[in-house]
Amino acid sequence: SYPVIAIDGPTASGKGTVASLVAEKLGFHYLDSGALYRLVALASEKRGIDAKNGPELGLLVPKLLISFKNSQISLDGEDVTDAIRTENIGLRASTVAVHPEVRSALVGLQRSFRQFPGLVADGRDMASVIFPDAVLKVFLTATAAARAERRYKQLIAKGISAKLSDLLQDLQERDARDSSRGTAPLLVADGAKVLETSDLSIDQAVKTVLDWYQS
Ligand code: CDP
Repeated sequence: SYPVIAIDGPTASGKGTVASLVAEKLGFHYLDSGALYRLVALASEKRGIDAKNGPELGLLVPKLLISFKNSQISLDGEDVTDAIRTENIGLRASTVAVHPEVRSALVGLQRSFRQFPGLVADGRDMASVIFPDAVLKVFLTATAAARAERRYKQLIAKGISAKLSDLLQDLQERDARDSSRGTAPLLVADGAKVLETSDLSIDQAVKTVLDWYQS
């Protein structure tokens, strides 16, 4: 079947940017698996479902009408591209993602993105759970300080005020939750190559992944 490049890593590591650029260069499809957890977070909030109720969240997933078209994401016919990107939804996403019922309900949908001529998939468990047969597995990371600074600059560029110390704390909380959960914790998968990007530009990171893929 078609080749998959799996790119996993912690929050704000830049994996989304790198993964989508690698996909573009290769003409591959791109899966932003974090967006799916964000969609579950948003949908459950709208319907008043408790983020701690795994069974009910698991039943919600197959009812959602999700579509990705030209980097526009819609949920039940509504454009939610921006609505799923808030800090609040990010935090809620990491809470709903703890439940095995939610994770298993999303497996088939994630695998359906594997289409001709290939796929670049980014997330936390792309290499370990969803695409264990990926031809290339990358664990993309950066120090917490570097990641907090990147997020800060992104927010400021969008005209959103932010405090670096709050962002750092937020990110460390999310790291702790992603790493300590029982199901699919964030880890360096067997056979994965670690890419430390604290001192790399986006172009350098993209080039490294492409070199690894082509070698
Ligand atoms: O990069 P960032 O953490 O800001 O967001 P994301 O990649 O959009 O993911 C949002 C949340 O979904 C993460 O904090 C994870 O807890 C969860 N997630 C997951 O559990 N498994 C994935 N494959 C992708 C995301």
